[in-house]
Amino acid sequence: MAQLWGGRFTKETDQLVYNFNASISFDQKFFRQDIEGSIAHVIMLAKQGILTKEEKDEILKGLTGIRQDVEEGRLQITQEYEDIHSFVEANLIERIGDAGKKLHTGRSRNDQVALDMRLFVRLEVLHVDELVKTLLQTLVFVMEEHVETYMPGFTHLQKAQPVTLAHHMGAYFEMFKRDRSRLKDIYHRMNYCPLGAGALAGTTYPLDRNYTASLLGFEGPTFNSMDSVSDRDYVIEFLAALSTIMMHLSRFCEEIILWNSNEYGFVEIDDAYATGSSIMPQKKNPDIAELVRGKTGRVYGALFSILTTMKGIPLAYNKDMQEDKELTFDAIDTAKGCLALFEGMLRTMKFHAEVMEKSAAMGFTNATDAADYLVGRGMPFRDAHSVVGKLVLYCIDRKCSIEDLSIEELKEISPVFEEDIYEVVNIKTCVERRLTVGAPGPEAMRKVIEMYKDYLAKDWQDEDQIDIPR
Ligand code: ARG
Repeated sequence: MAQLWGGRFTKETDQLVYNFNASISFDQKFFRQDIEGSIAHVIMLAKQGILTKEEKDEILKGLTGIRQDVEEGRLQITQEYEDIHSFVEANLIERIGDAGKKLHTGRSRNDQVALDMRLFVRLEVLHVDELVKTLLQTLVFVMEEHVETYMPGFTHLQKAQPVTLAHHMGAYFEMFKRDRSRLKDIYHRMNYCPLGAGALAGTTYPLDRNYTASLLGFEGPTFNSMDSVSDRDYVIEFLAALSTIMMHLSRFCEEIILWNSNEYGFVEIDDAYATGSSIMPQKKNPDIAELVRGKTGRVYGALFSILTTMKGIPLAYNKDMQEDKELTFDAIDTAKGCLALFEGMLRTMKFHAEVMEKSAAMGFTNATDAADYLVGRGMPFRDAHSVVGKLVLYCIDRKCSIEDLSIEELKEISPVFEEDIYEVVNIKTCVERRLTVGAPGPEAMRKVIEMYKDYLAKDWQDEDQIDIPR
């Protein structure tokens, strides 16, 4: 048992208590951030004359040595330390002696862990953003290929109106684009440095918190020491953003599972992204899509866990907050894995354009256009709706589509129909005429795709400024 305290205790900690309390098994995940924070702290302490230059140099050498030894496998992070902070400090003292005992001057593990977690989450926000961006690139790639791939659009999972595959993919582009904007908001909101808040009430040392913050790439220091050590909003916000990303992936997976079924046949998942059955030789299952859909619940679980943990905690730091880590780490790894796998599955998937188009041509996705045709010839929409309703019923009886009827049959239902109706109810015409911004018409779609490409070409800083197509 290696602990940073013990002076006021007369007994050893019970072994079970020690195990229950220790966090080294998981907080070693931010070992690098712990060292990085300590380095900044020590440089600041020396600048402020709290440590001598010699002490600073010795400590920095010790810290970078520990980092290197761990990275190169010469030093193991073991369970004999209570947490990662104790591991680093104990090893530092062992390495450089008395100077090492000064590392923790003007600092508490409360502001230290608040910093470590923040540095870790901040980096992961960028990693997740990168993965979402890659997915967006793949989506644009698919969209460009399929501006004129016609397919049924659904409401209530019933065929509704014809769209294109590019348009359908574009809906997901919008979702994941919003996810990126959420990540960016979180990044900016969380980018303040809690170090220097001490245990809860700041310190009596003349720390330069602005300087520490700038060394660590923060906008500035946090402004209330009690909040600094007990704020985990950014963890909650990040988990909420990850949950939303997972929800989007899960909806997408659900559609791919349907589309990949024998009944739909819209797509075929690549062999490299599908799995077989141990008993049924014919099977090719969409396990990856199902797993992503399934793992969504796990990420939601992390969000609900931390929300629940935080709801009853009085100010300032309480040990409950140690529970912010394991599920967050798991949620980050889960979401990152799902994003990467999903992108690969989408990139390698085959789209069966003919099947989609055939499906759009059946099931009366052009019924609204037929009604609009009648409206264009002076009929009130409500009457047109009823006429086309009858028309559909007539077709259902004969197992045919609107365009299969002769002009005589059409005229019997409404004399307003003329030969040009056949052009109007053609699936391609139906889509091509939808040209308002955001609609599936190929011309409108191409403009939006150009806008998406501009957006993807811009970096994190100025990607919000995108030109809206006119
Ligand atoms: N392992 C602790 C955590 O994750 C570090 C902070 C410990 N502070 C304390 N006062 N016990 O929250």
